[in-house]
Amino acid sequence: MSKVAIHISEPLLEVRDLKVNYKTPDGVLTAVDAVSLSVAPGESLGIVGESGAGKSSMALALMRVLPNNATMEATAMELESLDILKTPENTFRRTVRWQKISMVFQAALESLNPVIKIGDQVTEPLIVHQGTPKNMAKAEVLRLFELVSLPAETFNRYPHELSGGLKQRVLIAMSLVLRPRLLILDEPTSALDVTIQAQIMDQLKDLKKHLNLSIIFVTHDIALASDICDQLAVMYAGRIVETGPTTSILNSPQHPYTQMLLASMPLIKENIEPQFIPGDPPSFLHPPKGCRFHPRCPYVFEKCTSDEPSLINIPKHGQVKCWLFETKQ
Ligand SMILES: Nc1ncnc2c1ncn2[C@@H]1O[C@H](COP(=O)(O)OP(=O)(O)OP(=O)(O)O)[C@@H](O)[C@H]1O
Ligand code: SF4
Ligand SMILES: [Mg+2]
Repeated sequence: MSKVAIHISEPLLEVRDLKVNYKTPDGVLTAVDAVSLSVAPGESLGIVGESGAGKSSMALALMRVLPNNATMEATAMELESLDILKTPENTFRRTVRWQKISMVFQAALESLNPVIKIGDQVTEPLIVHQGTPKNMAKAEVLRLFELVSLPAETFNRYPHELSGGLKQRVLIAMSLVLRPRLLILDEPTSALDVTIQAQIMDQLKDLKKHLNLSIIFVTHDIALASDICDQLAVMYAGRIVETGPTTSILNSPQHPYTQMLLASMPLIKENIEPQFIPGDPPSFLHPPKGCRFHPRCPYVFEKCTSDEPSLINIPKHGQVKCWLFETKQ
């Protein structure tokens, strides 16, 4: 059984063979296929890959908030040894979602309620779900605002009075209000300009350290992920194709897709032109046989077009799903 992260303590989250299917008018597509991962306390795992790779579907599955046309299954999904796949929905809602595992959703900047003041929106879970008295909830939220560098006056503002960067800080504060152990961030900075993006990244690094937070950081930008993540998992067409410590993946990417993904990043300092990955990701409804990357791979050989490789252990590196590393078959 393959797992994504190498960790030194008991994992906080352990997922095996996660699968997400969507029912569509043209048939069923499997957006996440046999994904296994593990995150240790205080560790951050980056899920990286092109648009449509299945990153958000995987994140939504962990929060159990997939849309109605989706189904999910896994052979294991445990958070602090609690089986969060089989936990009944009302128990999951009361005790797990937002309290143990929370998420900043992709493109959520406009999701704040425009007619309710920020302070009331952020204190609501404490007052309604935990019965915290209003004045104590306010004090708690102001402490949280300080932690995410939000000015105290934000408490009495409406969303339209805030910049994108401040709104993103509010969303991060909201995701932390019930003190989860694991925070999922889905493209948390993609709608922000580069300066604000850098500030939010610094903030996240501080939070990770001060709260001993575990983080799953979802992004198409492998360079951004490497800024905060201890481990990386590269996703292609619903599958994880390479995993390992961030430094190993950055310094010696093994899978042809990871190599091309890295080469597609602009390296301003080194004055190297980004190399675009030729072709498009495959259709989930009619995926290519064999290795799903084979129509775009410069190293493709016969076996790649007929048989799908498994994740193969690479000593001192991680795991790679590519026939080039198969020695026995
Ligand atoms: N509700 C849905 N119904 C049907 N198909 C869906 C649904 N949501 C996502 N998909 C499909 O599942 C696949 C994976 O989508 P997903 O949003 O998880 O990818 P992603 O890696 O997060 O992409 P992006 O980087 O653009 O956010 C895509 O082919 C997408 O079209
Ligand atoms: S299995 Fe073959 S096609 Fe797929 S990445 Fe490896 S070499 Fe390329
Ligand atoms: Mg997404």
